[in-house]
Amino acid sequence: MSSDQTETARPSRPRASEEITSGFPEAGPPRFESIDAVRTGLAGVDYLADDGISGVVYLADRLAKPVLVEGPAGTGKTELAKSVARLTGSRLIRLQCYEGLDESKALYEWNYKKQLLRIQADAGQSWEQLEEDIFSEEFLLTRPLLEAIKSKEPVVLLIDEIDRVELETEALLLEILSEYQVSIPELGTVRASQIPLVFLTSNNTRELSEALKRRCLYLHIDYPGLERERAIIETRVPGISQALADQVARIVRSIRSLDLKKAPSVSETLDWARTLVVLGVESIDAEQAKDTLHILLKYRSDIDRASKELAGLDTSG
Ligand SMILES: Nc1ncnc2c1ncn2[C@@H]1O[C@H](COP(=O)(O)OP(=O)(O)OP(=O)(O)O)[C@@H](O)[C@H]1O
Ligand SMILES: [Mg+2]
Repeated sequence: MSSDQTETARPSRPRASEEITSGFPEAGPPRFESIDAVRTGLAGVDYLADDGISGVVYLADRLAKPVLVEGPAGTGKTELAKSVARLTGSRLIRLQCYEGLDESKALYEWNYKKQLLRIQADAGQSWEQLEEDIFSEEFLLTRPLLEAIKSKEPVVLLIDEIDRVELETEALLLEILSEYQVSIPELGTVRASQIPLVFLTSNNTRELSEALKRRCLYLHIDYPGLERERAIIETRVPGISQALADQVARIVRSIRSLDLKKAPSVSETLDWARTLVVLGVESIDAEQAKDTLHILLKYRSDIDRASKELAGLDTSG
């Protein structure tokens, strides 16, 4: 298909009941050669993926399936979508989810003010003519999901923190996730002209619906292993020495093994490493580690527990 098809066969505009809307958008050429190409490509935009992550991204493209990314906070879920957009030179369209998010903010909304002005400006017109006019694309305000479907350029669609919306709101997504189209009762069905890469992220604060899960590939991103976290630190913290990056990664790893209210995330590891660089620390001793623990941990009880542990820790690894 050469352009997005808004099925407005004027003057007989299709009604919801008349829509015949199946038909999957044509898949474009594959974005990635191989799983390895995904991993090296992502590394080129400073995102260090393991085999699991690169494999799912590769499959998402080949199978034209959305990816549901779950895992603890700050482990690179959102960053993955951003990095894939950068890597593929796609436009990133982001829908940040929150409680109370509805259709008018996620999909589309009619521009009532403009419709009203149009009605006033043309008082002499027949109602049929007017209706035809005011329910046309010109009067539609597109929100992120419709925007992603309508886009002619390649798109990465990020639906961030999907677990924050109510279960019922999830239903808004199902049509897009399985068929890459949006049905607008007054207008018809808008189909994608290209299949966007879609990432949904969740912190797992509630169970997502089976219907949503079924439509997606599943990716769990956990805390990275020692090697990968060290490499992430070296990539993301300018001016850090290999030795310090190694030490930071080891200490964070040992802190994560404690029974904490909230384990340090990768983003907190990076904040801590940046702090140490700013302070001119070349090698961390237990005292310095204790003094800067508030960057890594956000609960008093966690800081106390980690301080005790660090006192006995050989920070040289
Ligand atoms: N694999 C990685 N390679 C490079 N940087 C990473 C990686 N994983 C995480 N990061 C860094 O960690 C930061 C936090 O990641 P991100 O915001 O994507 O986490 P998140 O999983 O979306 O967290 P939240 O659940 O709190 O939204 C990123 O800005 C990035 O700097
Ligand atoms: Mg996030």
